[in-house]
Amino acid sequence: MGFAVSVLNFLALAFVWVLGALAALVLILYIIDRTQRSDAIRRNYPVIGRFRHIFSTLGEFFRQYFFAMDREELPFNRAQRDWVEHAANGEGNTIAFGSTRNLGVPGTAIFTNAPFPPLDDQFASSEPMMIGPRAREPYMAPSFFNISGMSYGALSKPAVRALSLGAAKAGIWLSTGEGGCAPHHLEGGCDVIMQIGTAKYGVRDAEGKLSEEKLRELAALRQIKMFELKLAQGAKPGKGGILPAEKVNAEIAAIRGIIEGTASISPNRHIEAGDWGELLDMIAHIRNVSGKPVGIKTVLGATEAWEPFFEEIVKRGEDAAPDFITVDGGEGGTGAAPMPLMDLVGLPI
Ligand SMILES: Cc1cc2nc3c(=O)[nH]c(=O)nc-3n(C[C@H](O)[C@H](O)[C@H](O)COP(=O)(O)O)c2cc1C
Repeated sequence: MGFAVSVLNFLALAFVWVLGALAALVLILYIIDRTQRSDAIRRNYPVIGRFRHIFSTLGEFFRQYFFAMDREELPFNRAQRDWVEHAANGEGNTIAFGSTRNLGVPGTAIFTNAPFPPLDDQFASSEPMMIGPRAREPYMAPSFFNISGMSYGALSKPAVRALSLGAAKAGIWLSTGEGGCAPHHLEGGCDVIMQIGTAKYGVRDAEGKLSEEKLRELAALRQIKMFELKLAQGAKPGKGGILPAEKVNAEIAAIRGIIEGTASISPNRHIEAGDWGELLDMIAHIRNVSGKPVGIKTVLGATEAWEPFFEEIVKRGEDAAPDFITVDGGEGGTGAAPMPLMDLVGLPI
């Protein structure tokens, strides 16, 4: 009997201590939250306001694992991620039963089907397409689907190496993106398109202007087949690449031709091209120096803006035209861009 009473006394005392400690903790948090000036939620709703941050952070994982439907997330949903994972693991890329995509939305079906599709052995006979017949070294492009530019720096070394090796295996080309040509782009032996962004990474002189010498050096590489002048990309039209100082390590600095440890903000457009005429001059100059086809990449907002461009080409003659035009969609991805540009500017394809 005496032992039971002692145990009850001990539990009661422990309970009072725990309750007291909790009350003291709440009081301390209350005072901290009420007096701090950096977070309005915690100042207005002391202690309880802290749960908002915890739940917002955890909510992302709860939604992803428990609540989001297979086709719900953007830019890639669970069904797409699983499909890629299966294919990459060599487990095949077929699925059973019907599509789980909402095919009732207009524009969902992207490709038209051929009434008499080619047989397996007929693919080999499709002709490569010549790009840049006016260049000293036109490119016989072998492939229809290729890998769009994603800079080394935005992507890690293993990612760029994997793309280069995969592109060589698939017989397709890989664009460097605006961050210059890294050894990892060349490693797999695939065809490479050298992109020139507004900061001219990889082909710039000390002042950030286009360096003919560097252009020649790159053009001499057998793997580099064409040059792509980036006017804009879907995720950030009218905004150059953004590279924070902490990302500019010695390797990135050497590849891009910038100073290590210093932030690099690209100009919003090529300083050499303030109108369509100057753009055509720049294309002709790069083609002349490199001897390789030169195209442009952009995203479209309205057709009117482009009409003077084509009028200028008609006036100068077809030799003045870019050798190819890459059209990005407003929905395209990026390594870093302001959200309003990503969300609101440029037409989706
Ligand atoms: C991580 C990342 C980096 C990118 N870097 C570049 C770049 O350097 N230059 C460029 O023109 N586009 C860049 N893009 C855009 C892509 O090249 C492409 O235009 C866009 O993602 C749309 O194509 P998609 O629908 O196949 O994704 C980048 C995209 C991503 C996701």
